[in-house]
Amino acid sequence: MRIDIISAAPNLLESPFNHSIVKRAQQSGIAEIVVHDLREYGLGKYKQIDDTQFGGGAGMILMLEPIVNCIKKLQSERMYDEIIYMTPDAKVLNQSTANSLSLKENILILAGHYKGVDQRIRDKYITKEISIGDYVITGGELAAAVLVDAVVRLIPGAIGDEQSALTDSFQDNLLSPPVYTRPAEFEGMKVPEILLSGNFPKIDDWRMEKAFERTQKIRPDLIDNE
Ligand code: ADE
Repeated sequence: MRIDIISAAPNLLESPFNHSIVKRAQQSGIAEIVVHDLREYGLGKYKQIDDTQFGGGAGMILMLEPIVNCIKKLQSERMYDEIIYMTPDAKVLNQSTANSLSLKENILILAGHYKGVDQRIRDKYITKEISIGDYVITGGELAAAVLVDAVVRLIPGAIGDEQSALTDSFQDNLLSPPVYTRPAEFEGMKVPEILLSGNFPKIDDWRMEKAFERTQKIRPDLIDNE
């Protein structure tokens, strides 16, 4: 899968993709992630990329032309399955969206900044808008990093033990059950007996029961939404 990201603050994206699963996915050729500096498409001598908003109001808006020029350049090199805009005023990312994006070949992500982008970009070029939660962060870069991480780890082959992505929280609309490792007893707290029993069908049942209990307690909306 190829992922292109357009950003006005590309430095913010230097580190997140250079660790762990996402790094390995790139090294093994499963994923290719390329960040494009919007400033390179800026207008005039000062490479302008933002301007004040029509109608007045605080905050700068990312301008149309630099973004459109960048998108068109990238589109001349490959077809994109989705052009995604990261913004808090969109549907919130969930595991099902991450799953379906992990099956795409090429995706282009636009990280918003300042007060957002000119609406006409959203109207004409963006095919999907994604928020990472009901709060506002400084720019779309960290949101794009969250999306890329959630998607790349789901690409077949990205995780060595494929099973481990399948048993993630949310994969079946349930939170994960509690997990334990050595020692079997610490400060009087014992690991549940069943996990030491070696009876794997029973352990599976226990995990399912605990996942259900935990989901019902903390995120009943996940069960109600079934
Ligand atoms: N940009 C700022 N806040 C955001 C959010 N919650 N999701 C996606 N992009 C954002």
